[in-house]
Parts: sequence; structure tokens; C-alpha cells
Amino acid sequence: MPPTKSLPCFDAGSDYCPCVLAELGRCIACSMLRGNDTCDCGWSGLCVYDEFLSAGKQAKPGREQITAQVTALTLLERPRDDYKAYLVEMAVPSNMAAWCTLPGSFVLLRPEAAREMFNVPISVMEVSEGGIKVAVECRGPKTTALERALLQHKKVVVTGPFWSGLQGPVHPSTLAQGNTLVVAKGMAQAAVPSIAGYIRCRGGNLKVLAGPGTLGLVFIGDILTRLNVEYEIMPRADDRNLGRISDEISTGRYRFLISAGSKSQHQALLNLLDTVSAAGMQVPRFAWVSHLTMACAEGICGSCLLAGFRGCKARFDESVQVHLLG
Ligand SMILES: Cc1cc2nc3c(=O)[nH]c(=O)nc-3n(C[C@H](O)[C@H](O)[C@H](O)COP(=O)(O)OP(=O)(O)OC[C@H]3O[C@@H](n4cnc5c(N)ncnc54)[C@H](O)[C@@H]3O)c2cc1C
Ligand code: FES
Repeated sequence: MPPTKSLPCFDAGSDYCPCVLAELGRCIACSMLRGNDTCDCGWSGLCVYDEFLSAGKQAKPGREQITAQVTALTLLERPRDDYKAYLVEMAVPSNMAAWCTLPGSFVLLRPEAAREMFNVPISVMEVSEGGIKVAVECRGPKTTALERALLQHKKVVVTGPFWSGLQGPVHPSTLAQGNTLVVAKGMAQAAVPSIAGYIRCRGGNLKVLAGPGTLGLVFIGDILTRLNVEYEIMPRADDRNLGRISDEISTGRYRFLISAGSKSQHQALLNLLDTVSAAGMQVPRFAWVSHLTMACAEGICGSCLLAGFRGCKARFDESVQVHLLG
């Protein structure tokens, strides 16, 4: 059974909508395409149902897959050498690069000769004309295969862009309308530059509290300095710096709080917001960098399911966010 409730889709109104889920009667945004008699989408953009009918009930072709030349590969200097992590720059078509500037943008990367099961979702940190920059931590089978391809062949297959890397009931366009606090730890720092760039270029402000996490280093400092973003490196602390974060939130300066880290970090920050709220203080709205497991990123494989919704497509609201704590 598909979920009965509609949620906004990251792809609605894009070149990739309607997608194959519409053909299958499983569109996450349109109740009519799921076989209901009435529309409950609440979406004021292009009507997915209309688009599907006028396209002759055909899905759009889906994302471009290209083979990209690696133009720069830099080993990140970790304090431990139990696994490697790299900054990678690669050449991609300028249209693909341009659509990777939205906060939460990511691509799927895999070795040239590998099948799609090797696709790894990787956040886009920065975009230049005709190129993207990413950071990859090589720990499991897919990222190890990717590491070999990067080192030996200097080529990777790139599929994208996707936008569901920043989740929660906060629309990106609102992020520049107030001060934002970002708590970033470990590899999830990679999602922060695109968020910071988006907010800064719209005149918004943000502060980043960054911690090394299991990766062992903070690697986004240079980019944040270039973007004129205030940041602070958090030391390792027994309370996981929740006291420091609580002090920052309690200043009342922030309209949004973004958690870039693991599921347990998201949970800890949601609990912290509950405590702050119980103390009678106004709490910022909460968004989180997706920690979900993703394989296809197109709503098919189901590896990203949260509360019955597909996290690679659906923008979660507060009701789904509660399931983070489950
Ligand atoms: C939207 C999105 C954006 C992402 N962006 C990035 C990014 O920018 N950079 C990046 O590196 N990753 C990123 N990830 C995570 C990355 O996609 C996964 O880590 C990757 O798919 C893991 O595949 P794998 O087969 O290499 O590891 P798996 O075996 O599937 O590992 C799963 C998890 O376990 C951890 N792990 C694996 N082996 C070990 C071990 N021996 N000890 C401890 N932990 C271990 C991995 O770090 C990973 O978190 C992102 C994920 C999503 C959904
Ligand atoms: S990653 Fe395949 S359904 Fe979401």
C-alpha cells in the first residue's frame, strides 16, 4: 500500500517530474496519481497530475548519467589512517553543475565499469563552471570501489543532480530569512558548503559549530572563511557539546537549526529543542542533513524509507520527523 498522505516531492516542478512513480500509481506528492478521487497535495507549483496527463501518461526520462574526468584528488590529512578520505574535483556538464548549487544537492558516483548497485550518494560541496567538488570517506564496499576508480582511472560515472540531502519542514528558500545555526560533525560537514553558499548569496546569515567526529578533522574551514561564514571548531566533549549548542540556541538569535551529522546527533538536537521549549524559550525550526541509506535515489528501491515515506523524494514534515526519535 502506498502512503495515504501526500508529502511535497523534491523533484516536483523539475525536469524529472513526473517520474516513473507516477506511471506506477505511487507518486508521493499527488493523491490523484495514487488513485484517490481528490487532491490533497497543497502544492502551489506546476500540477503533477496535469503534467502527467499532458505528457500522455509517460514519465520523464530521468537523470543524466555521465562519465566524468577527475581533475583534482586530494587526500584529507586524518589523524588516524584506519581509512582514507579525499576531496575530489571532477568535470561535469555546466547544466548539471548549475543544478548542484541548491542546498542538499548530491550526486550518485560509481566506478566506470561498475553496475548501478555501486552507486554512492555523495554531497556536492562546491560548484564551479563545468565542475563539482565533493568529499568521500572510503570505508565500506561501495566507497572502496570508488576509491580504486578515483586513484587508478581518474574517471567516475556521475548521476544527478538530486536535492533531498537537506531534509525537514524548512523550505530552502526560507533559510536566508533569518539567522541559521548549523551543527556539523564528521563527514556530514560535506553538505554544509552548499547550504552556506545558498544562504550567503541570498544575504542570509549563518554560524557553523563544526566538530571532527569519527573522521577526525574539520575540512570545510577554508570554504566557510571564503564565504564569510562565522564558524567555531568544537572540541571533543563528554556532553557531545550539547551545553555549548544549548547556550548558542538560548541566545534567541536563531530562526533555523540545521543538524549535519548522524541520526543520533539529529535526535540529540531535537531533544535539546524540546528542553529549550519547555523552559519557555522560543525554539528555532529544525532541518537535518539526510542520514538515510540511499541506493537508487529515485524512489524505487525503498532503502531510504522513513515512516513509510521515501526519503530520497519526499520532503518530510514534523509528523515524520517524530520517527527520527523512534
Ligand atoms: C544524501 C547523502 C549524502 C551523502 N554524502 C556523503 C559525502 O559527501 N561523503 C561521504 O563520504 N559519504 C556521504 N554519504 C554517505 C555515503 O553515501 C555512504 O557512506 C555510502 O553509501 C556507504 O557505502 P559503502 O558501501 O562504502 O559503506 P557501507 O558498508 O554501506 O557503510 C555504511 C556506513 O557504515 C560506515 N562504515 C562502513 N565500514 C565501517 C567500518 N569498518 N567501521 C565503521 N563504520 C563503517 C560507513 O561510513 C557508512 O556510514 C551520503 C549519504 C547520503 C544519503
Ligand atoms: S533511495 Fe531508492 S527509494 Fe529512496
